[in-house]
Amino acid sequence: MREFLDKGNPSEVPLCLYTFACVMEPHLQPESIRLPRTAPCILVGFRPYQLQAVLHSNRLDELMPCQPIEITGVESDNEMDSMPASQPFPRLETERLVLRKLAAGDSENWFRNLSDDEVAVLIGMEPLKSVKDSRGLINSFSDRFEKGVGMAWAITLKPVGTFIGTCSYEKIDRENLSGEIGYDLLKQFWGHGYMTEALGAIIDYGFGHLGLNRIEAHTTAINTGSISLLQRLGFSEEGVFRESSFFRGEFRDDCQYSLLRREWKPL
Ligand SMILES: CC(C)(COP(=O)(O)OP(=O)(O)OC[C@H]1O[C@@H](n2cnc3c(N)ncnc32)[C@H](O)[C@@H]1OP(=O)(O)O)[C@@H](O)C(=O)NCCC(=O)NCCS
Repeated sequence: MREFLDKGNPSEVPLCLYTFACVMEPHLQPESIRLPRTAPCILVGFRPYQLQAVLHSNRLDELMPCQPIEITGVESDNEMDSMPASQPFPRLETERLVLRKLAAGDSENWFRNLSDDEVAVLIGMEPLKSVKDSRGLINSFSDRFEKGVGMAWAITLKPVGTFIGTCSYEKIDRENLSGEIGYDLLKQFWGHGYMTEALGAIIDYGFGHLGLNRIEAHTTAINTGSISLLQRLGFSEEGVFRESSFFRGEFRDDCQYSLLRREWKPL
């Protein structure tokens, strides 16, 4: 198959000469694409596993040289391939929110949240002791973005840009096209659907621009707000890890949730 994919330079061939052209869009299901039985076809922006799905559903996994179809030029325009330095940090916008890069200037605000004992108990960590700690976390996210293995947004309210919390890809696994999200809101902003809206935007970004196939989230079993949030977004529980963490003298259960690209229903 590889030699078919590597063959030729598709950018030199006028698009009108293809019998079929398809550009990968975030919500396109590769397995539902039907290829015509005539050559040549072009597929643009498909990741290898998506291409595999197209070929499989068209029963073309084992392309034989004598088959009339030739897939000419498979490119990837996913940001994952060129993150980070060549990509500016993505600013995302929803109806009520602007999500921008979490920066050193957010240290004080983020510290207010992560030093709150009620929040710390839900997350399962001791409250931060000083602004230095939140600055350290922000620096660590900047490093992860530089390396293309994580990124964090400050969630701000329109129109004035009030900081209300953060959401992130704590990890991006390029090999397996999966990411793990993390999130927190200042307490006075709970109960308005802001995090649902913010996560909706970064999930769209993850499945769309990053080309992820799977997004996962971990939460303690006592964190009912976080579990409702994940369920509202369509995540499925994959398992409860019984007594997997020890916090303040007690063992606690942790839950793992995930959402696959083909399951995502944008808000
Ligand atoms: C987890 C956390 C972000 C959830 O916050 P939240 O306010 O419940 O989530 P949302 O902003 O999406 O708001 C949803 C709530 O607002 C309500 N709501 C109001 N208007 C809404 C709207 N327009 N759209 C959606 N929900 C709306 C929903 O009914 C829901 O309330 P319910 O759970 O009582 O039904 C928050 O509890 C938090 O920051 N906790 C501390 C940090 C933490 O636990 N992080 C997760 C670690 S794994």
